[in-house]
Amino acid sequence: MYQYSEFDRQFVQLRANQYRDQLQRWQAGTLPELEFKPLRLQNGWYVQRFAPMLRVAVPYGELSSAQLRVLAKIARDFDHKEAHDTSNANAGLSEVPTLPDRCAHFTTRQNVQYNWIPLARSADVMDLLASVNMHGIQTSGNCIRNITTDALAGIAVDEVADPRPFAEIMRQWSTLHPEFAFLPRKFKIAITGAREDRAATAWHDVGLRLLRNVDGDLGFQVRVGGGMGRTPIVGVIIREFLPWNQILNYLEAVVRAYNRFGRRDNIYKARIKILVKAEGQAFVDQVETEYADILEKDGAPHTITQAELERVSAFFVPPALQCDRKSADAKIAHILKAAAEDDVEFSRWLTQNVKPHQNPDLRAVTLSFKRLGQAPGDATADQLDRAAELVDRFSAGEARVTHEQNLLLPWVRCDQLPELWREARRLGLAKPNIGLLTDMIACPGGDFCDLANARSLPLAQAILGRYKDLDELHDLGEIDLHISGCINSCGHHHSGHIGILGVDKDGQEWYQITLGGSDGTRLSGESVPGKVVGPSFAASEVPDVIEALLDTYRATRTDGETFIGTLRRAGPDAFKSAANAVRTHTARATA
Ligand code: HEM
Ligand code: SF4
Repeated sequence: MYQYSEFDRQFVQLRANQYRDQLQRWQAGTLPELEFKPLRLQNGWYVQRFAPMLRVAVPYGELSSAQLRVLAKIARDFDHKEAHDTSNANAGLSEVPTLPDRCAHFTTRQNVQYNWIPLARSADVMDLLASVNMHGIQTSGNCIRNITTDALAGIAVDEVADPRPFAEIMRQWSTLHPEFAFLPRKFKIAITGAREDRAATAWHDVGLRLLRNVDGDLGFQVRVGGGMGRTPIVGVIIREFLPWNQILNYLEAVVRAYNRFGRRDNIYKARIKILVKAEGQAFVDQVETEYADILEKDGAPHTITQAELERVSAFFVPPALQCDRKSADAKIAHILKAAAEDDVEFSRWLTQNVKPHQNPDLRAVTLSFKRLGQAPGDATADQLDRAAELVDRFSAGEARVTHEQNLLLPWVRCDQLPELWREARRLGLAKPNIGLLTDMIACPGGDFCDLANARSLPLAQAILGRYKDLDELHDLGEIDLHISGCINSCGHHHSGHIGILGVDKDGQEWYQITLGGSDGTRLSGESVPGKVVGPSFAASEVPDVIEALLDTYRATRTDGETFIGTLRRAGPDAFKSAANAVRTHTARATA
């Protein structure tokens, strides 16, 4: 893991001190609300439906066990629902809202959010975070946000090069970059170093892919202008190959062109995707002109030297771990035997939750945070503490937040898999559903979010409840189900094989269903937005719609064919008819 320097540590603590001073002046009435608001936002403090919401930056998703323990403490001691007035929680809704508290929420952008911390206690939380080098800087506002990557970075078997040193160099470049503090809109960069895109790079403002050219040199393919929202657009490749050492100079050119020409007059048209779409080649030309100027006139100031890359890479050297081969062989033989005989659950866990590793003695193991009774991506204080224990015992003290809102242990010895499984199962974190229907992505939706049209969490619960039978879940195979409570698309519904979007009709909750979206993984294929199946559905209809879609898949698939494969081969018509039949049926029943 990257270790913060003394400079970084001091900077984060000074920022926490500065925030405490701002908070105290606001509380004393000497700092007006209007002036405090941008200051709290710059530290990740939003105010949502019932309470403040804190977003904590987790650079490229990496968390130490010490950081997990502090996140647990914050959840336990500060994330309290009873500190807030939720008396209007049921307004306009048919059911009692979900509103979980005392937990942290893993986000698709590998960050962590809290939903219930009172502002009065926010400075104490910033101190706690600073004690483990964490903060909320640039997790809000129109700046370059936390840079995300593949959760398997540095360990994936299909990796061309480790993206983390580059993500770290970009983090240092983009943090408090004076020119890019007030961009037209938020700016999100994702980077992958693997052949399979597990970082949804095409859906980001800038998507970077490390690759080697025909001469074997390392460089980046650069995509620009991806994003979701009301206009889902897949980023376009504007550079097939950029030498790795030029990435900051080139990014500087891209962001500068956006900063100058992005639409500041209309918030709905302010993301870079709109500029890239409207200007096409003219935007690319502008970037190239700017890049040439940076190289020639400015003397390429951000060129990364070999020495700097090596210095940063040295922080990401893998822990020296090896299996006791003899015992590993014996144990693995035993495992396979047990799995074949009666331990179906363990066998499933090995298949779904355990991924191969660059080091043949090791495996990457995903702890599932998707289960009935818990919001997708939520981790309770106890779970965070227990996860920290597992991380210390089985993963060299390191975990990673995944895009799919789970926690991955990157350094697990093969011979410790049975023990890890037993422990994780005892703690309720070993559900073998990674990649399956119930490993869904969901935003906080109307239970928490001020911008929501509808709730996400009760739908997630309904689907988790209906598909809890593991035989059925495994029979359905790999399916990406993504839920957003409004068109801002935080739950990436556009890229779900099945997408659910909350829409507002006459102040009631309704949901639009999309089919065939993809986030660019090998299973899903090229990134593409899903297509709407028809008019929206009532909340009570949605679980039946999902069931109708899955039944259609089961009736149509060929041997071994996935949901997305069947949908693409057979076309959407049968799926649409099945979904729309649910609405007609309910309408008749209630008429
Ligand atoms: C409840 C607090 C939240 C609020 C108020 C919020 C607000 C927003 C807004 C307004 C946008 C659209 C920006 C634009 O297109 O100009 C957005 C985008 C996004 N949010 Fe959130 N968000 C919240 C929580 C989350 C969570 C929990 C996640 C992850 C699970 C998330 C992930 C994202 C992502 C990935 C995008 C980019 C979508 C795109 O590509 O356009 N957000 N958010
Ligand atoms: S998609 Fe909408 S409802 Fe969900 S978190 Fe984002 S802004 Fe809120």
